[in-house]
Amino acid sequence: MSSPTISLAIREMGEEDLPVVLDIDQLSFPVPWSERTYRAELSDLRASNLHVVEVNEDGKKRIVGYIGYWFIMDEAHISTIAVHPDFRQMGIGEMMLRTAIEETLEKGTLVVTLEVRKSNDAAIRLYQKFGFEVIGTRARYYRDNSEDAHIMALKSIY
Ligand SMILES: CC(C)(COP(=O)(O)OP(=O)(O)OC[C@H]1O[C@@H](n2cnc3c(N)ncnc32)[C@H](O)[C@@H]1OP(=O)(O)O)[C@@H](O)C(=O)NCCC(=O)NCCS
Repeated sequence: MSSPTISLAIREMGEEDLPVVLDIDQLSFPVPWSERTYRAELSDLRASNLHVVEVNEDGKKRIVGYIGYWFIMDEAHISTIAVHPDFRQMGIGEMMLRTAIEETLEKGTLVVTLEVRKSNDAAIRLYQKFGFEVIGTRARYYRDNSEDAHIMALKSIY
């Protein structure tokens, strides 16, 4: 029996992807984005970018992660990133972040920023792997538990 052919691809998110994206969001965040928020992001094509990663196993496609980022003048801001729990620690988060950073570079971005919970070790390590550094704090930023956010920035792309 031949082994399955598995490939990964990243592409723009569409409205038809929302049911799966909302499921992954529920599994990934204490305060998930609403469908309304996603629809608003998808309609703001100038500032907002949302991409999904799809696994293709012998022709059967499944969305396993997504990333969002905003362009604000010469800054890019990562607005969201998540990988389905069954597909974590396989390099998918890294692949999405690399793709996002490369795209922002192509558009002339000088700095990439994001917020992350201070307790979110997995995400902080991912960002540090790319050279993001903590540049500040947003006190009690998360409304579910009043946790502080680190503000992180990748400035080495100057
Ligand atoms: C953060 C998240 C997107 C990482 O995605 P992932 O596909 O599992 O990450 P990768 O497999 O690409 O890992 C890349 C790097 O991230 C770090 N990392 C990822 N998961 C980690 C974990 N559980 N513990 C420690 N470091 C971790 C490591 O540095 C890893 O590099 P390494 O494999 O060389 O050690 C994923 O854990 C997730 O969806 N979390 C829930 C949503 C979330 O918190 N998003 C961030 C909001 S700010």
